[in-house]
Amino acid sequence: MVRTRAELGRHIRAWKQAGESVGFVPTMGALHSGHLSLVEKARENATRTVASIFVNPTQFAPGEDFDTYPRNTETDLAKLASVNCDLVYLPSVEEMYPPGNTTNVRVEGLSDLLDGVYRPHFFYGVATVVARLFLHVQPDVTVFGEKDYQQLQIIRRMVRDLGFPVQIIGGETARDADGLAQSSRNLYLAPDDRIAAGALQAALHRASVRLSLGVMPSEVLAEARALVAAAGFGKIDYVSLVDPDTLLDLPDAPLAPGTPARLLGAAWIGKTRLIDNISVAR
Ligand code: PAF
Repeated sequence: MVRTRAELGRHIRAWKQAGESVGFVPTMGALHSGHLSLVEKARENATRTVASIFVNPTQFAPGEDFDTYPRNTETDLAKLASVNCDLVYLPSVEEMYPPGNTTNVRVEGLSDLLDGVYRPHFFYGVATVVARLFLHVQPDVTVFGEKDYQQLQIIRRMVRDLGFPVQIIGGETARDADGLAQSSRNLYLAPDDRIAAGALQAALHRASVRLSLGVMPSEVLAEARALVAAAGFGKIDYVSLVDPDTLLDLPDAPLAPGTPARLLGAAWIGKTRLIDNISVAR
């Protein structure tokens, strides 16, 4: 485990001089089996694997859960050791954001849609910290979960626009037996809410099947929202059918065969906001 960019750099340089490649999985800790599957994917695609644990203050708005975000460093380190992660980077806030720094990364457009409407600060904080982490770790390959589909697309765009020499791989969403996507914030769910939470994925799955059969998107999306509400969710931020690259809404017409499409949803259950997504095959 290393805490500074200088110590990290010594490992990375030694590996690269020895002809090794570096796979990287950035995390905010509170690791679950979804994170570990990303580390395993990085291991399949590089000879060395680095994970970072950093609860990034710039992606939390005032009033969000930065102070209470679950922090279990000892448990996280043991979990990473169990999947043979070679090195864990645990930087301080000062290491990531040196005092006086004023430089941020904004992936405009993609960051302002969907989740960006409800959490306007969020993707600017994510892009900024991921760009900084890439500069520290200098990975050849990096793995981001498809669970955070919008984040994955924003990082792809940032890498393309800024020319970071890193290959991005999307990792499949890990799910509980009832379909709920694994997330560190699932720890917040009250027992009754946990039981109802699987309904978001079930509604998206049903919607995906109906769209693939050619049903009108407006009808499918209305039903998906109704199913989520009926399951006990409160505010539904969005259930949207979008182009998988641009994240722009698709027109309200039956999907033509071969049209790439993705369904994304975000809704509140109790005090917890859940997001999920699914591809649509036609
Ligand atoms: O997905 C996350 O856990 C975070 O947004 C990330 C990519 C580690 C940046 O802080």
